Amino acid sequence: MTEYDKNHDTRRSQAAIDRVRGLIGDNRLAIADRIAELYNHYIPLDRDLLLRDALMALVASVTTPITGKPDKRRIVAVCGRSGAGKTTAIMKHIGNLKAMSSYVDEDGVMIHPVIFMEAESPCTPRLLAIKGLEALGHTPQDRIRENEAWLLFRRLLKVHKVMWVVIDEAQNAIETANVRQATVIGDAFKSLTQMPQWPVRLILAGVPPLASFLARKQLYNRRTVVPFDSVDADGVVNVIASVVRTIVIEHAGMELRIPLDDAAYRNDDEDDTLTTQAYQFLKRLMHACDNEFGSVVQLVRAAVELAILADREYVTVDDFVKTYASFSGCKPSKNVFEAANWEDLDPSIALLRDEDKAWEEARLQSKGKRATKYGVRPQ
Ligand SMILES: Nc1ncnc2c1ncn2[C@@H]1O[C@H](COP(=O)(O)OP(=O)(O)OP(=O)(O)O)[C@@H](O)[C@H]1O
Ligand SMILES: [Mg+2]
Repeated sequence: MTEYDKNHDTRRSQAAIDRVRGLIGDNRLAIADRIAELYNHYIPLDRDLLLRDALMALVASVTTPITGKPDKRRIVAVCGRSGAGKTTAIMKHIGNLKAMSSYVDEDGVMIHPVIFMEAESPCTPRLLAIKGLEALGHTPQDRIRENEAWLLFRRLLKVHKVMWVVIDEAQNAIETANVRQATVIGDAFKSLTQMPQWPVRLILAGVPPLASFLARKQLYNRRTVVPFDSVDADGVVNVIASVVRTIVIEHAGMELRIPLDDAAYRNDDEDDTLTTQAYQFLKRLMHACDNEFGSVVQLVRAAVELAILADREYVTVDDFVKTYASFSGCKPSKNVFEAANWEDLDPSIALLRDEDKAWEEARLQSKGKRATKYGVRPQ
């Protein structure tokens, strides 16, 4: 796609959006804008410092002459489960790094030093190279062979002056790979990072099989892993409380009608009889989100959205109950925010009702497979 086509495309999309904006009326528009504003905020955690340092080291390593020595700064991998916040964090930090932003070079050509690609599922080494070519704006011929695709990709990275390649959902390239394919991918990653005159650095994001893959000998000395761990420790309850407050009070400018002051929930060393309503609420929230930070943010924002749509200026526990019900499609008795046995409920399968589960299991068994959790990717 040429630059003209891209601009034309953007204008057409914006015109279509503006048309709808013109039709929905001022009140609805104000609500839509308020909700959009809510989604604009980024909430940093301690892990963001690690990621930022790792990305800055990746930038610095481009200026270091290649000594041939393995260097941990050639690949940065963000590993965590689905909903942890990997993609959001990578995009945020890349957007903040000047060295990674687009520029016009001395020939007047717009250069994008970072390209983004997503490994589709299932993904072969050949498909991954094709994805890379597409990310560069090329459409390779249908029958291009695996080695040709990789050669072309490597050559064009230099032509387009690309220095950093982001591969999201990188586990897809290795999850179903056989031994040969895993070796090809490992070699491809390695050779991308040591092209003689054009050092390309990789930023990978993926669920945990990615971390094990990068532990292989070819890559171990060339990578830094930034773990995006689940938020399941008791100590994290404070962090989650502050996330709820930040989104509701600071970002949305609303009142939080759930008492979450520090004194309201127990410390680790206090006994269970002191378990308070606020502590329970926060634990339920974490459980409802399968202890993933990004999912917590999403659920809190959706609860706020419900209050905005109801024309209220405050958020209550009931907003969370309703949001969880609509996210999960669960029966009222299985709502993590209400059920007495919430700890036994599995939030990832709350989406399925009993009949659905029975159908799902029967279908898998008829195919000779074991039933696994609905919507859960291998960890
Ligand atoms: N630090 C953050 N601040 C604000 N919102 C966040 C943050 N991290 C994640 N989110 C929100 O959480 C949602 C899920 O995050 P994201 O898609 O980045 O997760 P992921 O780890 O890439 O998951 P997946 O493996 O499924 O792709 C996003 O829609 C985003 O809005
Ligand atoms: Mg992602």
